[in-house]
Amino acid sequence: MRSLRSAAKYPNLESLRIFHKEHRAKIILFGVFTTLSGVIALALPIFLSQVLISLTGGDYDRLAYLSAIVFGLVGAIALSGMAAEYYYTVTTNDLFLSIRRKITYRTMSMNLSAVYEKGSGFFLERMNEDSREASAVHLNIWRAVISLVINLGFIGYITVLNVFLGLLFAAGLALLMFLEYLRVSRLLENMKKSKRAVEKVKTNEAEILKGIKEIKGLNAKKPVIDKHTSISSKYVDVKYEREIYQKKMQNLIDVVKGGIDLSIILFAALYLLPNNMAELAAVLIIYMYKGNIYGLIAGLARIKDTYVNGELAAKRINDIIQAPANEVDTFGDRPIDGKIETIEFRDVSFEYSKGKKVLDGVSFKIDGAGVIGLVGKSGSGKSTIFSLLARFYDATGGRILINGEDVSSLAEDDVRGSITPVLQDPYMFNDTVMNNLLFARPDADAEMVMEACRAARIHDEITAMNDGYDTIIGEGGATISGGQKQRLEIARILLKDSEVMLFDEATSALDKNNLEQINDLMIELSKERIIMVIAHRLSIMRRCDRVIVLDEGRIIAAAPHDELINTCEQYREMFRKNAAVEPPK
Ligand SMILES: Nc1ncnc2c1ncn2[C@@H]1O[C@H](COP(=O)(O)OP(=O)(O)OP(=O)(O)O)[C@@H](O)[C@H]1O
Ligand SMILES: [Mg+2]
Repeated sequence: MRSLRSAAKYPNLESLRIFHKEHRAKIILFGVFTTLSGVIALALPIFLSQVLISLTGGDYDRLAYLSAIVFGLVGAIALSGMAAEYYYTVTTNDLFLSIRRKITYRTMSMNLSAVYEKGSGFFLERMNEDSREASAVHLNIWRAVISLVINLGFIGYITVLNVFLGLLFAAGLALLMFLEYLRVSRLLENMKKSKRAVEKVKTNEAEILKGIKEIKGLNAKKPVIDKHTSISSKYVDVKYEREIYQKKMQNLIDVVKGGIDLSIILFAALYLLPNNMAELAAVLIIYMYKGNIYGLIAGLARIKDTYVNGELAAKRINDIIQAPANEVDTFGDRPIDGKIETIEFRDVSFEYSKGKKVLDGVSFKIDGAGVIGLVGKSGSGKSTIFSLLARFYDATGGRILINGEDVSSLAEDDVRGSITPVLQDPYMFNDTVMNNLLFARPDADAEMVMEACRAARIHDEITAMNDGYDTIIGEGGATISGGQKQRLEIARILLKDSEVMLFDEATSALDKNNLEQINDLMIELSKERIIMVIAHRLSIMRRCDRVIVLDEGRIIAAAPHDELINTCEQYREMFRKNAAVEPPK
């Protein structure tokens, strides 16, 4: 029943229960020990008041016996409380890990448009803060419910000892509860705003770190810090609003608590007979457990708070793990049959944002191994063609066929496992050179890695580094040169040994000697696979089987170099200008 109701009211929170499965035993142990310590705590005041009564009755044997029980109970509460806390900590930490793992994995499955649009803060906050919050929600609620039952028991017991005192106390508590409820519900709206504001701050800060070189190079600290301050101050405003309200409410709550204390003392002094030990016991119990019971009030308000905040965190987590279909990479389940023999673009069009066509009616077919060049002015759509082949984006019109099969029907591992782009500005992770290479092929051995590095003409430079292949290259490859990064990326693709390789300006930072060697390598590789190459340094185009010339998203010519030089005005012009800066061999 409870789970049905919470499913309707807190559907996102409910959906996170799938993470509980693998931690079920620990969750049950947490519940058992929490309940146990609660039940024992409830028995304690009964024995305590009996101690008081036997003290006045002069029954010392009974007193000793009861005192022993009280000590035993206190010990048992401590032990079971400790066990409960242990399982609470272990379980929430494990849940945190499981949820984080899932979010991070799913983040990598979101499509690039969604990732770029949302910004890094969106993801980082969810991987960290929301996961942390969501991993504790269910256990916190369990804890709050158990504490609720125990403390209601206390109030019941006080009422049995003295009805008026019980009612007085209950009335004071009702008022406290109302105030707590007010406090919490006002805060929820603020929490939502606050989380959105934090995301923006985090995105901005991640960008400052990524762009640190540009900031220094352009001497742009001032505008950057101004933007940071403006974004941060929006967050601080929301935080200020929350903190001031919290403090106001806290003061009010403290006044009410003081009022309850005073009433109980006055009531005890004025109405309770000094020799009525049972009733004095009630006062004593109130004093001993006041803290707990006030805690209960906060706890009660917190159940709602925990649910609603937890639902918010869970919703934010589901923004990623249950992202809508249009934000997720979509693949089919068909395998690619055998080796990739043909790639065909059939009347393909594409727009990154609605209404702005970047590719328009692009058609070409590659049949069998060889090198195909792609040239055109900056912005003509060359990289976009590669992005569609690597399935970074989906064509918005027409079809892309691999071995005659629509690429959208093919399985992710088959497409991404065999068609690999080699980027101009590749990303290196903050790890060793070796691990940065193995990331392309985890099962390769050191010899294979070195072999690839020799072919990519980077091996000697790696062995000359301080720790050779174990040298750590900074985040993004900050500690190596642009040309080294490009050659490491080429080593990666050699290790990966994909059937189709897409070189996008992958040699732009190489010196002439390295460039020629890598060009030779590409020609060698093309003997048994399809190679596509985009290069502003056009020397490689002479050696291509065919060159496709793009202009404003359309193919204006496609033929071998020698033919294009004679038939395509734009190509001839491009080649002539290029030869002036980059004389052919
Ligand atoms: N992620 C993106 N979102 C929106 N527009 C984009 C995106 N990437 C590229 N574009 C736009 O698409 C057009 C084609 O870009 P593309 O990167 O394919 O050009 P290109 O031919 O590779 O150019 P270059 O030679 O400069 O690399 C450009 O107008 C570019 O501004
Ligand atoms: Mg490009």
